[in-house]
Amino acid sequence: MRYTTVNGRTVSALCLGAMKFGSTTDAATSAAVLDRFVEAGGTFVDTADCYQFWVEGGQGHESETFLGRWRRERGVTDEVVIATKLGAQPTVPGTGVETQEGLSAKVVAMAAERSRERLGTDTLDLLYAHREDPLTPIEETMGAFNELVAQGSVRELGLSNHRTWRLERARATAEANGWQRPRVLQYRYSYLQPRHDAPLESAGHMHATPELMDFVRAQEAEGREHTLVAYTPLLSGAYTKPDKPLEYSYDHPGTVARLAVLDEVAKESGATRNQVVLAWLMGHEPRVIPLVGVSSVAQLDEALEATDLTLTPEQHSRLTAAR
Ligand SMILES: NC(=O)c1ccc[n+]([C@@H]2O[C@H](COP(=O)([O-])OP(=O)(O)OC[C@H]3O[C@@H](n4cnc5c(N)ncnc54)[C@H](OP(=O)(O)O)[C@@H]3O)[C@@H](O)[C@H]2O)c1
Repeated sequence: MRYTTVNGRTVSALCLGAMKFGSTTDAATSAAVLDRFVEAGGTFVDTADCYQFWVEGGQGHESETFLGRWRRERGVTDEVVIATKLGAQPTVPGTGVETQEGLSAKVVAMAAERSRERLGTDTLDLLYAHREDPLTPIEETMGAFNELVAQGSVRELGLSNHRTWRLERARATAEANGWQRPRVLQYRYSYLQPRHDAPLESAGHMHATPELMDFVRAQEAEGREHTLVAYTPLLSGAYTKPDKPLEYSYDHPGTVARLAVLDEVAKESGATRNQVVLAWLMGHEPRVIPLVGVSSVAQLDEALEATDLTLTPEQHSRLTAAR
């Protein structure tokens, strides 16, 4: 395993997504995947308080509930950092993110409390705002987050799926009030780049843009550390599975160019496409932590092996230059 840091705290350079655990991935498989991840040195796991409300019979808290149980059964405490998110749970059963709870002070306080209970912890390691809430002033959300930090209920704050201008507004608001700023950013990101003017198929997904990367670089140049966490890095299996076609937004000439170089580098290094993608992300500038979702131990093993794959600087540059 490789390691990196989130604001000084060491975590594995690969984060494991628990979105399907306890629902579409059955309990035995979910536990086997988590156990294997930890045995291989993995220390960073991701969930949310709404996973997976959209599957048949789903309530939205199956993943957190499963992780809480696993944590208790295995006696896992601080050695595994578990990140969760709030704000995207629908308020009307049977609907989607269009009726999300949002990021009001009341929701932030209530949802954080529910997550602490389900995960069986006094202090959440990392809490993200899952999606933008245009109806709540950012001051209200940041103030409520600050309250949680002040109470010791949350260690680290993050924002997911927010437009770059909102990140800047959140930073400015937090700093103006002497509050902890959100230092972890979570977006969809992979080696293949979508057209940013074409919508992604998954409701609520927001892709990291060149502007976001520029924001992170500029912040770091001013001494503000950020950690960028990249979800859906393997495009749900589309790099390797013929039955999982790339979605429409990837249908452009840059995809053809990038897949050609990806195959070249995979052949040179004796690795799979997925492994080269993960190795490219782990060598990314600005720094990126790939957040992989898997539905079997075999898929996890493929991802874990990527932590041993170091691309040469020339290979990394060649991959990056393809467009
Ligand atoms: N912040 C957000 O809005 C947001 C959004 C999405 C996800 N996330 C987080 O990011 C995590 C990862 O997201 P994700 O979309 O990658 O996970 P996911 O939705 O769980 O999908 C991953 C899927 O990719 C396929 N796959 C994984 N490894 C593979 C391999 N080695 N070979 C072939 N296929 C493979 C599997 O599909 P099959 O099961 O069909 O084999 C697997 O179920 C989630 O668990 C969640 O924690 C966050």
